[in-house]
Amino acid sequence: MTDANWHDLGPIESLRTRELQQIEIGRTRVALSYSDGRFAAISGVCNHAGGPLGDGALDGEYVRCPWHHYKFHRVTGEGEPGYEDDRVPRYDLKEEGGRLYVNLTAASSRHKGKHDKHPLDRSLDRDPGGIRVLGISTTMMDDKFPRYSTSEALLDTAIAHARSQGMDARTIRLRDLSFRHCEGYYSKAAHACTWPCSITQMDPSDQLDRVYEALVFWADVIIVAMPIRWGVASSLYFKMAERLNCVQNQITIRNRIMLRNKVASFIITGGQDNVQAVAGQALQFFSELGCQFPQFPYIAHSRGWSAEDMENNVRYVQNSPELHEAARELVARGFELAKRLLATQELAEMVRAGRKAAGLHVVKLVSNADDHER
Ligand code: FES
Repeated sequence: MTDANWHDLGPIESLRTRELQQIEIGRTRVALSYSDGRFAAISGVCNHAGGPLGDGALDGEYVRCPWHHYKFHRVTGEGEPGYEDDRVPRYDLKEEGGRLYVNLTAASSRHKGKHDKHPLDRSLDRDPGGIRVLGISTTMMDDKFPRYSTSEALLDTAIAHARSQGMDARTIRLRDLSFRHCEGYYSKAAHACTWPCSITQMDPSDQLDRVYEALVFWADVIIVAMPIRWGVASSLYFKMAERLNCVQNQITIRNRIMLRNKVASFIITGGQDNVQAVAGQALQFFSELGCQFPQFPYIAHSRGWSAEDMENNVRYVQNSPELHEAARELVARGFELAKRLLATQELAEMVRAGRKAAGLHVVKLVSNADDHER
């Protein structure tokens, strides 16, 4: 039998005022609940991804995790009916002299129940084979009455060229997929934004798993076709980019770079201008994902601010052998770089300082010259 380790939580009167609270005592986190005139305490650390259970909500006799809504019985720590063996520790409480005490020696142990691994939750090893090219179209249109999309037409040319050169190539049209917007798990906490994406894990009908699968595991060369909408990329592009936060966030929380040796390039077209803004965002974003870029990583076309004659813009792209040749050359540049990257040794682990979300603690001040030389 383990020794009791009682800790004073404070006056009962004030602890009764909150239905659920997260309390930290040293390194122990406790979810203290008060309901139907009875206190109860279980671990404040969720079995799933470590969410702060005490910051969640009571749902009947269960504590609901604020991150992805797993539930644990507020008294026993057991999971919901059907998942009882997925349990968090519970803690004994006692009331003395108007004060509440918790025994920090847990009264039961943590046990993680078996949950099937999501298919995307696997090693990042590249399957053998030649260079693979993924086109992603971010254009929206009514496919029953399709129109000519200049960015998608150039993407089609690029993909056809890749195939003609013996590459394995495929296109994903985002408009064909039914997928949810990012719902801001990262905004709750960096660790609440998981890989695979929290939405992908919870909603089997969400089809962005096809983009994750192709981007993270399959492709060597990625070509994103981007129409310009009011000076920025399309809403579909941003809908995808926000959902790719979980890929970038793996670097932030685990230093795990999911896109390695992958080449990104872009086709940007619009009736109005702002090629540079769209390219700037895309280059920045895909660089943060870990992608590399060939020389001249994007091709673009716009007739500028004054000429808002979209029919002519479409005709121009349809009838421009040079732009279609440029799309073929874009693939060729990506192919050459991907080939070289795959033949090269992996980079050694990089210093995090100066990179996104390195953390202020990584940038240390040094007090003398000796420290510089270390
Ligand atoms: S449900 Fe608690 S961390 Fe995911």
